[in-house]
Amino acid sequence: MKIAILPGDGIGTEIVHEAVRVLNVLDLKFESDTALVGGAAYEAHGHPLPESTLKLAKEADAILFGAVGDWKYDKLERALRPEQAILGLRKHLGLFANFRPALCYAELTHASSLKPELVAGLDILIIRELTGDIYFGQPRGRRIATDGHFPGAEEAFDTMRYSKPEIERIAHVAFQAARKRSKKVTSVDKANVLETFQFWKDVVTEVHAQYPDVELEHMYVDNAAMQLVRAPKKFDVVVTGNMFGDILSDEAAMLTGSIGMLPSASLDKNGKGLYEPSHGSAPDIAGKGVANPLATMLSAAMMLRFSLDQAGAADRIESAVKAVLAAGLRTPDIWSEGTTKVGTREMGDAVVAAITGKTITTKS
Ligand code: IPM
Ligand code: MG
Repeated sequence: MKIAILPGDGIGTEIVHEAVRVLNVLDLKFESDTALVGGAAYEAHGHPLPESTLKLAKEADAILFGAVGDWKYDKLERALRPEQAILGLRKHLGLFANFRPALCYAELTHASSLKPELVAGLDILIIRELTGDIYFGQPRGRRIATDGHFPGAEEAFDTMRYSKPEIERIAHVAFQAARKRSKKVTSVDKANVLETFQFWKDVVTEVHAQYPDVELEHMYVDNAAMQLVRAPKKFDVVVTGNMFGDILSDEAAMLTGSIGMLPSASLDKNGKGLYEPSHGSAPDIAGKGVANPLATMLSAAMMLRFSLDQAGAADRIESAVKAVLAAGLRTPDIWSEGTTKVGTREMGDAVVAAITGKTITTKS
């Protein structure tokens, strides 16, 4: 097994460091190689996704990714901005299926901005298509308008598009995931306005014929955004396009109290994947040792389960995370009265201790 480790920017380096410590105490046989990505790679090599980093990622069986981005790069031309690294990896590695589970841990029910009864036991899986849609559609750019409301004015445009095979393959992923859960899929679209998403709806419906045991519901994206805060537990597997998935997955993450708890997996057609926390690089708290490393550790667990066939080791990480929460340890993002505030490093120590069978002591 070969793992490419790409910590990236901001808190990325701190949280990936803790996740790697956790991997190292699991007695697994794996090789790993670390490379720069994002702003860090731009500083060193003049590009957010250097050839050498891409090569390492291509050759690995799985990729553990931290986060990229910093406001200081906002003025760079788009092709050199840190975000292009993650977009480039998704594109070049064909990572079309993005799994973003939103799970509300019993201990963190009160950290949600919604009433506890709305989120207690919440367990949703958002499956976001990751290599198509308006994110990658061509043409795009700036030009002088020749029609529209202001002919002759400067304008910008992007292209929303999906081909049939792209929709079919993500629909299969969603229906198959639903079979392992409560057999219900909500497909989110905007078929009432957009041609692309009428097509999405039609193709998902067609693929559904192969999964008569799974219930399929269609929902417009605006309604889905509303239902997610009204009655989130009505959802189970949600499948949607790249753009809507970006937005809805952040919303779903916040239902669980902290985006600092949520892992994600981005898989290609063979199950090779890139694993990253759902949150970003948080430059405001970078280097302070206060970032929550749990989402990255849980991403490492997803990596073991999905790409490296090590479900037992994945279970051990997930149980250890539950144990440290039960012991009352909290990084600042999930801290509440009566629990013990710890930093990134201490949280790492505690998870390592829980895995290796040592007891965890709390201070309060
Ligand atoms: C995400 C992020 C990325 C996206 C950015 C960093 C390009 O928001 O993974 O959700 O928009 O996909
Ligand atoms: Mg996003």
